[in-house]
Amino acid sequence: MRHLLNPLDFTVEEIDELLALAGEIEKDPSRFAHVCDGKKLATCFYEPSTRTRLSFESAMLSLGGSVLGFASADSSSAAKGESIADTIRIISCYADICAVRHPKEGAALVASLHSGIPVINAGDGGHQHPTQTLTDLLTIHSLKGRLSDLTIGLCGDLKFGRTVHSLINALVRYPGVRFILISPPELKIPEYIRQDVLRAGHVEFKELGNLDEALPELDILYMTRVQRERFFNEEDYIRLKDCYILTPKKMKLAKEDMYILHPLPRVNEISVEVDKDPRAAYFRQAQYGVYIRMALIMKLLEVEKRC
Ligand code: CP
Repeated sequence: MRHLLNPLDFTVEEIDELLALAGEIEKDPSRFAHVCDGKKLATCFYEPSTRTRLSFESAMLSLGGSVLGFASADSSSAAKGESIADTIRIISCYADICAVRHPKEGAALVASLHSGIPVINAGDGGHQHPTQTLTDLLTIHSLKGRLSDLTIGLCGDLKFGRTVHSLINALVRYPGVRFILISPPELKIPEYIRQDVLRAGHVEFKELGNLDEALPELDILYMTRVQRERFFNEEDYIRLKDCYILTPKKMKLAKEDMYILHPLPRVNEISVEVDKDPRAAYFRQAQYGVYIRMALIMKLLEVEKRC
């Protein structure tokens, strides 16, 4: 039985296969409409979500399966003190596969150790968000035709941003990828990513405070939200929340084929006027999230394609 807790749980070859399958699904979803007939997906979300939970549910329904679950800790027996280990033992009696989102780092790993069914990490605190990463890889591959030889700018909350941590982990395995890490000093990338992932892997990167300086070099700009829910201190959040705002004026500094990604939700960091720019790819990215989650469910449930 396989789980997905970290993007590195899959080899590059397995990720290539998933991206290819997602591409086939995008071309003709009707071919896959019954491959999960009779299967059930549980979504156990202890933290708010729109895209991840609903795209998982949409994915399973599009494969012919069914969905059950809870959308907040308050509406589950976690509110009565039940541990995630006990909850997943119970979910294993009710479903064939489970997606878990939890505010604590490592929660999905704990769930996987007590589970009788595949567990997918749908975000664990500030740690990892591997299915967002698969979505991002599919989006970049679809837009640029490759995952290698790209300059990727990651901008905003690089400290707590689990999507950023997962994406760096995944992209360092492709040759010729270099990173420009754009953040205020308080929200810089964690030291373990700088040392154990980037420096240890001899990956080219630089850290900047200024978005304008980075923009002309980038092939992809990955914007992120400053996350109120990860701050201990409201004053710090208010001071930092608008540190970067991407506007049409700033977009004039970018290449004609530089695409903007964002895991969403957006708050203020991309002005709505940028949405009209053909390089704004963040809503397409959310659509790709359904195709890649369909491919992932098929892989973890080991269901065959039907042509
Ligand atoms: N990108 C993402 O994880 O969005 P949600 O929090 O809405 O699931």
